[in-house]
Amino acid sequence: MRAIGTALCCLLGFSVAASGEDVTFNKDVLPILQARCQSCHRPGEVAPMSLLSYDTARPWARAMKAAVIQRKMPPGGLDPQYGHFIDNYTLTQREIDTIAKWADSGAVEGDAKDAPPPVQWVDGWRTKPDVVIEAPAFAVPAKGWVENIILVLPNPFKKDTWVTSIEIRPGVTAAMHHAGIRFAPHIDGVKYGKFYWSDIKRDAAGVHIPGQPRPERVTFCDDDPSKVCAAPEANVIPDGAAAGFEGFYRPGGAPLDYAYYRSAYLIPANTDVILSLHWTPIGTAVTDVTKVGFVIAQQEPQRQLIMRSLAPRGNGGWSDRVRWRIPAGDPNWEAPPKDVIFDMDAELAVMSIHMHEHGKDMKYMLMYPDGRVETILNQPRYDFNWQMTYNLEKTIKVPKGTKLRVMSHFDNSPSNKFARDPDKDVFGGEQSWEEMDAPWIGLVLDRSVDPKTVYSENPGDEAAFWSPAQSH
Ligand code: HEC
Repeated sequence: MRAIGTALCCLLGFSVAASGEDVTFNKDVLPILQARCQSCHRPGEVAPMSLLSYDTARPWARAMKAAVIQRKMPPGGLDPQYGHFIDNYTLTQREIDTIAKWADSGAVEGDAKDAPPPVQWVDGWRTKPDVVIEAPAFAVPAKGWVENIILVLPNPFKKDTWVTSIEIRPGVTAAMHHAGIRFAPHIDGVKYGKFYWSDIKRDAAGVHIPGQPRPERVTFCDDDPSKVCAAPEANVIPDGAAAGFEGFYRPGGAPLDYAYYRSAYLIPANTDVILSLHWTPIGTAVTDVTKVGFVIAQQEPQRQLIMRSLAPRGNGGWSDRVRWRIPAGDPNWEAPPKDVIFDMDAELAVMSIHMHEHGKDMKYMLMYPDGRVETILNQPRYDFNWQMTYNLEKTIKVPKGTKLRVMSHFDNSPSNKFARDPDKDVFGGEQSWEEMDAPWIGLVLDRSVDPKTVYSENPGDEAAFWSPAQSH
């Protein structure tokens, strides 16, 4: 860990106080707050207080010390043993020591000359979008549930456009379970700005009723939201699930910067914007207007970055009700593995985790062709509210024939404060109280490569798939 600490220190211009020296806010603490805390702790963001200045941070000195020592803050921190990430917020031991020492030595302000320049946060946005589009307002009811909604919008770009970031910004973050974006070939007659969803049969608690089939197709509700009109998915969302989502918002997550990997994402001309929007009622009725901002690439890249979610083994992944079932009361249910074999050399840049309220932990492992196993990411304390995207400081070169296995556990016991009804089994589903088991990977590929040819998912015999030579 020392090595990363040092690398980050120099990269971000940190100066970590050596023991014996005075620790001051301006010199030592503010750089840490800028890099690790202010994205949330500033006016208008999720956290309750601002940590932008000495005056606003000073009263919180003791609380900050306690929160970082217990690794409660920043939220979503990974097991620091594995992987070097640029934005997972996990503090190094030296950063924790610096904050603790500052709090213990009178929380001194120090010399203003030592302070780094303030970060130019763009209000509301984390990126600085060149182009912004807006979804129509959606009224989220106070109670009950809202199905996952598909919305088609016109593409703001008339010609092929490479972007280095796509940021999805919900109007009411607390009510947004997820929001994803992809691009699909334009279809004449497509209706822009209408909300489409599957009419899933649910019981009073909002749980999908067993035996009632999940409708395969998205239905179309025209002007009357209660009216369900059949509209084959193919008419609306060509190349459905296979297309993946390019930009994705989840609670706590930050947008990707493709430029960091000297790559970009191509938004093809003649496509429509397809948004997947899933709101969860929060006890009061709210109206959400979600926006999407695009940062246009300065130049055409040689490499593309693609994001894909992975499905668990079984018949239909997490919707397999036989294999993918979290038993009532189980505090540590192991889900079926998510397995991938790479059919060509690739570079892994990004990993992220999407589970719902019972999600407990997730671990990514690579097995190289020689049988050597390496853990590349371990999230031992998953929290639904902090679904980070973990960007590797350096991409991992994955040779052809390498296997990736992702393992996850779920907690359906009373000790999980989010588990709504631990007396009942939990199955896969769209709602927060149902479950998902969706690791994501981001791969950097030459722009000529067809992403569909890069890897195979859940191949061959499951028992034979993972036979490590050694592990560590
Ligand atoms: C991803 C968003 C996010 C980041 C990054 C973040 N916080 Fe927080 N923080 C929150 C939220 C939300 C709360 C209030 C709810 C809670 O306590 O979980 C909070 C609460 C706190 C509290 C209140 C006391 C407590 O323990 O509940 C302290 C102190 C704190 N944060 C310190 C920090 C420090 C120091 C950093 C950086 C090293 C940091 N936070 C980074 C979101 C964030």
